[in-house]
Amino acid sequence: MRSHVPSRIAVVGTGYVGLGTAGLLAHLGYRVTGIDIDPDKIAQLQRGVVPIHEPGLDLLLASQEDRITWTTDYQAVAEADVIFICVGTPPGPDGTPDLRYVTGAARSIAAYLGDRPQVIVNKSTVPIGTGDFLQRLLEDHAPQFDETRHRVASNPEFLREGTALADSLYPDRIVLGGHPEAVEVLARLYGPLIEQSFTAPQGIGRPDSYSRPAVVRTTLQSAEMIKYAANAFLALKISFANEIAGLCERVGADIQEVTTGIGLDGRIGHRFLQAGLGWGGSCFGKDTQGLISAGREHAYPMPILQAAIDVNYRQRNVVVEKLLRHLKSLKGKRIAVLGMAFKPNTDDLRDAPAHDLIARLHQLGATVLAHDPVAMPRAEREWSHLTYTAAPDPATALRRADAAIIATEWEEYALLNWRDLVGTMRQPLVVDARNMLRETLPAQVEQIGRESVQVQKEAVLV
Ligand SMILES: NC(=O)c1ccc[n+]([C@@H]2O[C@H](COP(=O)([O-])OP(=O)(O)OC[C@H]3O[C@@H](n4cnc5c(N)ncnc54)[C@H](O)[C@@H]3O)[C@@H](O)[C@H]2O)c1
Repeated sequence: MRSHVPSRIAVVGTGYVGLGTAGLLAHLGYRVTGIDIDPDKIAQLQRGVVPIHEPGLDLLLASQEDRITWTTDYQAVAEADVIFICVGTPPGPDGTPDLRYVTGAARSIAAYLGDRPQVIVNKSTVPIGTGDFLQRLLEDHAPQFDETRHRVASNPEFLREGTALADSLYPDRIVLGGHPEAVEVLARLYGPLIEQSFTAPQGIGRPDSYSRPAVVRTTLQSAEMIKYAANAFLALKISFANEIAGLCERVGADIQEVTTGIGLDGRIGHRFLQAGLGWGGSCFGKDTQGLISAGREHAYPMPILQAAIDVNYRQRNVVVEKLLRHLKSLKGKRIAVLGMAFKPNTDDLRDAPAHDLIARLHQLGATVLAHDPVAMPRAEREWSHLTYTAAPDPATALRRADAAIIATEWEEYALLNWRDLVGTMRQPLVVDARNMLRETLPAQVEQIGRESVQVQKEAVLV
């Protein structure tokens, strides 16, 4: 394995992480095969259709010419020097991550491991110890398995949906865990990324302030823990801002000014300190639960993480309580929900706060009109159990509404002509659950952790 210079890559799982990884590695010059068990997804990719919404991804993939191929056939594993596992690890009923896709992928990989040096890299977020489990699983199922040739490594992914490509091309750090020889192969693979010697792809320029990523070489267990701990800490930061926001409302302080004030302390920082509707998506809820369940296995309670989760989901009720305070009852009321994706610039609806809002509003007797700039087709498929009317545009959602909730901070919602739009509502009441409105309006505007819309001061950092 020592002289192993990687050139052929297999990426197993072509979701948000797999597609970004495939695009990045092809851009760095490698030959990449993306493998998925979903034939529809692969058929779309083969036709040049990117099955998810991620800014810049379609252009990046389209510009790789013949460096990427898409298939449902695991045969490509036999030729690959490095095999990335990027399949989902959704939470099971008790919060423990469900490893069935990782196990399924590993078994399929095992059948095709060859008699050459190969590194099997786990990019999925997995419980600590999964790397060892994978190594044993390959040992048991790969006819050609040889410990000196086949190594399992961990290379957790830190991309954020919506900015996935910039996050992957210009990361803060690259974490490589496992046997030193496997880590060395990955360090070589990522050489152009570590040296930043590649040409920036069109539209995803290298930030002026960016130089190069730090590289953390560590064990399998520590790499797996770094990913969980990073997500848990970010989730915690958001919940902290939301907990302070609730008290701000009660004592007359303004959370925007408070988080600006504390974020200027270099030890704290501004990022992930925004009060609002709380986190959603496929990672924070799952990974905080995953850590708690790992603690439970070792009879080690993790009360800070549990509190972060409780505060996060309480925030979804806060919005409904604000509506009830103004409208008394929601029976027969028409409520516009702007934003369905869990955050802007993605169509990902997993654990989106808007889901719980729509469900609760309907339960309370309201008629819900919902809009999202990109996630509506997906919601039609994935949220068919919810009762709401899809509005073709924000103006239609707001017309004759008794209240509007801004649930996702899409830039286009900030750019709406709110002054005119609130005039079309039956009652001009806007619950801006993302604190994004910057102008005072002829309407009742509720925000999170502050009394009313403040005109943004130049000095205020967000
Ligand atoms: N989405 C994110 O922002 C993000 C960020 C960092 C880490 N992660 C982690 O990365 C992992 C993947 O997340 P995602 O959001 O890309 O998931 P996803 O659900 O978008 O994609 C997973 C893909 O794996 C495929 N798959 C499942 N079993 C397979 C198998 N046996 N062989 C081949 N393909 C298979 C599915 O069909 C799907 O296309 C998860 O562990 C997640 O926690 C996600």
